Amino acid sequence: MIEVKNIEKTYIMGKVKVQALKGVSFDVKKGEFLAIMGASGSGKSTLLHQIGLLDTPTAGRIFIDKLNALKLSEREKTLFRLNHLGYVFQEYAILPELTAVENVYLPAMMRGERKELYLKSSIDILETVGLGNRLHHLPRELSGGEQQRVAIARAIVNKPKILFADEPCVSLDSESSKQILELFKTLNTELNQTIVMITHEDWHKEYSDRVIYMKDGLIEKM
Ligand SMILES: Nc1ncnc2c1ncn2[C@@H]1O[C@H](COP(=O)(O)OP(=O)(O)OP(=O)(O)O)[C@@H](O)[C@H]1O
Ligand SMILES: [Mg+2]
Repeated sequence: MIEVKNIEKTYIMGKVKVQALKGVSFDVKKGEFLAIMGASGSGKSTLLHQIGLLDTPTAGRIFIDKLNALKLSEREKTLFRLNHLGYVFQEYAILPELTAVENVYLPAMMRGERKELYLKSSIDILETVGLGNRLHHLPRELSGGEQQRVAIARAIVNKPKILFADEPCVSLDSESSKQILELFKTLNTELNQTIVMITHEDWHKEYSDRVIYMKDGLIEKM
């Protein structure tokens, strides 16, 4: 489903070059739940931004379902992201002034879809993540774990080919973390959702099918 071939990413900050990725290659199969681990600064988020088509690598190739993703124009990439990829990233937090269900249907609303359709699919997906009784709560009226489940619902409502998550349990207590990981596992086993998740907690890897360990911009082992 995903083929990553020799990805490099160098950030240039004035005179300083940071080689965040130094040639990373791996594949992800359809329906696989992949975890990415490694020390802070090892390049995990940078890698996820490249394969999530949110950034352009300095070198290398990325194929998603055989599509040469880096050959797409910016507009094609944006559409591909909207239609086929889901993200649970801290920089895409849910919006504080919208209710749970509004947060989930906002992207569909902006795409101009029909309200009766996106309202129903948003309610269905919130029920799937266990929030059927929290539809009209604002984020501040939800626990941290519940807010994160709204973010997951929003990421998967459009049935993405791949769900990307960057430390989805960061700042959650261990009970809420367990619920989030169990939800990912259920989505993976019951809906065959392909998932690529960064985590730094060793016990989280039990929920995944496979772990890639990053070190200094390279895969240390997998
Ligand atoms: N936008 C950027 N501009 C310049 N340098 C960056 C940028 N983003 C990341 N870096 C640098 O690239 C390296 C890898 O960063 P990255 O965020 O990928 O690490 P990480 O493994 O996700 O770390 P953490 O576990 O702390 O989130 C770091 O040295 C970081 O300082
Ligand atoms: Mg990171």
